[in-house]
Amino acid sequence: MGLPRTAPVAERVIPLLDHRARVLQPPAAAFAPATRLGANGQLTDTMGRPLRDLRISVTDRCNFRCSYCMPKEVFDQEYAYLPQAELLSFEEITRLAKAFVAHGVQKIRLTGGEPLLRKNIELLIEQLASLRTLQGLPLDLTLTTNGALLKRKAASLKAAGLQRVTISLDGLDDSVFQRMNDVAFPVSEVLAGIDAAQAAGLGPIKINMVVKRGTNEQEILPMARHFRGSGMVLRFIEFMDVGATNGWRLNEVLPSGELVRQIHAELPLLALSPSAPGETAERWGYADASGQWDRSAGEIGVISSVTQAFCGSCNRARLSTEGKLYLCLFATQGHDLRGLLRSGAVEADLVSAIGHIWQGRTERYSELRSLQAGDTGTARRVEMSYIGG
Ligand code: GTP
Ligand code: 5AD
Ligand code: SF4
Ligand code: SF4
Repeated sequence: MGLPRTAPVAERVIPLLDHRARVLQPPAAAFAPATRLGANGQLTDTMGRPLRDLRISVTDRCNFRCSYCMPKEVFDQEYAYLPQAELLSFEEITRLAKAFVAHGVQKIRLTGGEPLLRKNIELLIEQLASLRTLQGLPLDLTLTTNGALLKRKAASLKAAGLQRVTISLDGLDDSVFQRMNDVAFPVSEVLAGIDAAQAAGLGPIKINMVVKRGTNEQEILPMARHFRGSGMVLRFIEFMDVGATNGWRLNEVLPSGELVRQIHAELPLLALSPSAPGETAERWGYADASGQWDRSAGEIGVISSVTQAFCGSCNRARLSTEGKLYLCLFATQGHDLRGLLRSGAVEADLVSAIGHIWQGRTERYSELRSLQAGDTGTARRVEMSYIGG
């Protein structure tokens, strides 16, 4: 298989806008389906996509200010984060998670914001770790973190039942990394967090690097060299036009095709087949001298939401910090499950509501963007720190 080609995408720019009032909008009415729908794990949406992956945002706060996610100019002292009472409690999250699992969810990812900032997150992990899939297996229970608190927390997360972690790291050079996190956080602390996660057995560990052309692209090869042969999977993510505040510009997107060619020139790669249906990353293995996959050197992944949309197999649902169900990362509106929970719904009601919502799902934002056929409009899009990456 040849190296990937990049699809053309129209030039667009997302201005740096301040939408801090949006999170205070009154919640939409609770979803109340007319007919009850049961669960058997066969649920599909209007495009035949099953529901397999649930991402739960446990806080809209973060101790970093990555320019592509929570730019300092917007997420400042005045920013109106959700008040405590608006957040789903751990019990509420677990009740909802159980209803999602009844529909066939097999993987739960805790995200944020920075999920390790949520107080006593280990208690939630314990509750989620006790759930079983329809096949009677434990969930693939994982968490995305910036790594800042991992050194302190890796052992307790593992003890609570977390299986693995994905750590965001946008470069190894301290000045580049600090430009990316924008709070002068040193790279050595994240590397220490990664070591702690490895020592605690929170693997297989994945490292996510968002690449912004002109800002951290010079870190691609050093990162590849550093993680090659480490047993960790480094994934490069195209800078996305998610949210409405990150000042996105197409000319700051480095197409994954270009990135793969760049690495391949120094460290030969070969295409690997997907390890799971609906996977976000395209996998590339390091080749040995005879052109075979050198498993000891490992693999990288590229996540090409801008140049090669993967909506066709998207099996991901997102639960926001305040309990709204979003059917796409680029959604403008969510379905208020918290209202339903707090109005006294029993498990069958939750299962039924989730089933109806998923059955009606039509979202495929990235595909529409690359077809240049549609744009949901940035103005009302929710932020990734609120909906969860
Ligand atoms: P693994 O199970 O560990 O492979 O996780 P994953 O790739 O499903 O999840 P992860 O959160 O690591 O995803 C990596 C990045 O891909 C995210 O931070 C986003 O930038 C992007 N991403 C994840 N899911 C989606 C999606 O549904 N749509 C788009 N456009 N991007 C996504
Ligand atoms: N583009 C791509 N990925 C993003 N993330 C957040 N904002 C963006 C964006 N604009 C993802 C990164 C990060 C995770 C927490 O969220 O993968 O590691
Ligand atoms: Fe925080 Fe992650 Fe967003 Fe960076 S990408 S601001 S670490 S939530
Ligand atoms: Fe799924 Fe929306 Fe991402 Fe497409 S853009 S892969 S539908 S979350």
